[in-house]
Amino acid sequence: DECFVVAVDGPSGSGKSSTSRGVAQRKGYAYLDTGAMYRAATWLVLDSAVDSSDPAAVAALVARTELRVGTDPAAPTVSVAGTDVTAAIREPRISAAVSTVATNLEVRRLLIDQQRQIIAAARPGIVVEGRDITTVVAPDAQVRVLLVADPQARVARRKNELGETVADHEVHDQVIRRDRDDSTVAEFHDAAPGVRVVDSTELSLDEVVDQIVGLIDDQA
Ligand code: C5P
Repeated sequence: DECFVVAVDGPSGSGKSSTSRGVAQRKGYAYLDTGAMYRAATWLVLDSAVDSSDPAAVAALVARTELRVGTDPAAPTVSVAGTDVTAAIREPRISAAVSTVATNLEVRRLLIDQQRQIIAAARPGIVVEGRDITTVVAPDAQVRVLLVADPQARVARRKNELGETVADHEVHDQVIRRDRDDSTVAEFHDAAPGVRVVDSTELSLDEVVDQIVGLIDDQA
């Protein structure tokens, strides 16, 4: 029996992570946060002496370093060469730099390879979240979802995550800037054929999880 794959793409603040973890927990599936892998690669580059504007040097650094991601939806962890970076990869300096590393095509090739290996080894299923999962990483996934939400709702959610210390306009700038930086990667634009669009603007977390679990149960 092969792995049941649920692919979830969406922009930052769409509720992708909470939703994907919730679905994985409800189904007893593994969970893979591919954004965490690009963040870990970014942490690695910033922590190193490598020139981040040299694509070949960045790719070589990522290729020779062990990035590990845990797939427990209750407690996802990430480490770089044995150092736990689970908290550090959420820092604003990482969010600000991640698009540069994520647009490095050789880095993408390396991480996508690793993502496919993790997916192939998962049992009985896995929920994979990112930007190119429905289109590139796992186009054959049994369930493919593009999670969207109005920019206002996404800014409000991001603000909730970051806490009261961050000004509204800063959060707004962060979300909008990352949309723009990410929009240079062609695969992120629209839902590919066969991908179900779920708009979470007016829905609670539980309602979105229910919808996706419904899609899974229709397939199984
Ligand atoms: O999902 P999250 O916001 O943590 O992703 C961080 C960044 O990693 C995104 O802004 C994007 O630049 C990159 N990313 C990517 N491909 C993925 C997942 C994330 O390029 N599959």
